[in-house]
Amino acid sequence: MNDSGETTASPIPPESSSIPLIDLHRHLEGAIRPQTVLELAEQYNMPLPRELEALRPLVQVTSPEPDLVAFLAKIDCAALPLMTLDACARITRENVEDAAREGISYLELRFSPCFIAQSHDLDPAGVVEAIVDAARLAERDYGVRTNLIGILCRTYGPESAMRELDALLTQREHLTALDLAGDEAHFPGELFIEHFRRGRDAGWHITVHAGEAAGAPGVWQAITELGAERIGHGVRAIDDPSLVEVLARQGIGLEISLTSNVQTSTVPDYASHPLRQFLEHGVLATINTDDPAISGIDLPYELRVAAPAAGLSPAQIRQAQRNAIEIAFLDEDERAALRQRLAD
Ligand code: ADE
Ligand code: ZN
Repeated sequence: MNDSGETTASPIPPESSSIPLIDLHRHLEGAIRPQTVLELAEQYNMPLPRELEALRPLVQVTSPEPDLVAFLAKIDCAALPLMTLDACARITRENVEDAAREGISYLELRFSPCFIAQSHDLDPAGVVEAIVDAARLAERDYGVRTNLIGILCRTYGPESAMRELDALLTQREHLTALDLAGDEAHFPGELFIEHFRRGRDAGWHITVHAGEAAGAPGVWQAITELGAERIGHGVRAIDDPSLVEVLARQGIGLEISLTSNVQTSTVPDYASHPLRQFLEHGVLATINTDDPAISGIDLPYELRVAAPAAGLSPAQIRQAQRNAIEIAFLDEDERAALRQRLAD
């Protein structure tokens, strides 16, 4: 993507790097290869274009969308051919393979079972099991340490989210954390307090999309009422200096995704992004991909192109990667091992 918000069609190939690359915020449904969408559409005879170049504008953002909901519509389209549990397993495996190709050492991959299940009435618990099983095999085969995060999709309302939570809980010990995603502007976190109480009781870590399509109060709510240890995006927190101070003081990390934030019109361009300010205030802000296939980017692109365009110095980019180690949902032994690799 260039500074006016246009994406390049193919990602920049990764170069070898001594830094252990970490992506803490990547959506499975937003990281389906366009080629796979094409093949599944053909396999299941879906009403989608049969040519990659005709399909691409439906599943990839090429210039900023007016808002988050318009951006999310591309994911709806990419997920349309997920007609079977085999298709869910395939995209999971390919996600981990793609992370390996990018040079990622540790990946937190998140997904909403109801979002995936909804178009073709799949069983949400079956979707969770298929993804968990495929991720474990792919982790072994591609050597990318992978933790899974279950998402409650706020766009379908609190009752659907409760069913979604029940489906996620069937694989409780195979998921690391619980998240809330979807249409933040119309479905505030106040609707999901009981869901997150149950998620915390299940022993999961908590991260919440907030401060992306709505303001700083949603970030406060995520922390104080949902128990968020990390915030997905959190861009609008910059409007409230007392919130920035709390984020820094309490070590509540931000999962920033620069290109996504431009493409959802959360910020007007890379240069206006507050990531640099968060880092300068000591917030544990990180750099992630969000929906790399939809955005037409990968993690090396975000680190080498987007981050400098957002005004980060090489030292600040390194700091963001160091922050990712500190806020990763890992046990202390694995965190120490990543720290050691950074020091080597
Ligand atoms: N689902 C996928 N990407 C998302 C984003 N950036 N915000 C909210 N929900 C999402
Ligand atoms: Zn996200």
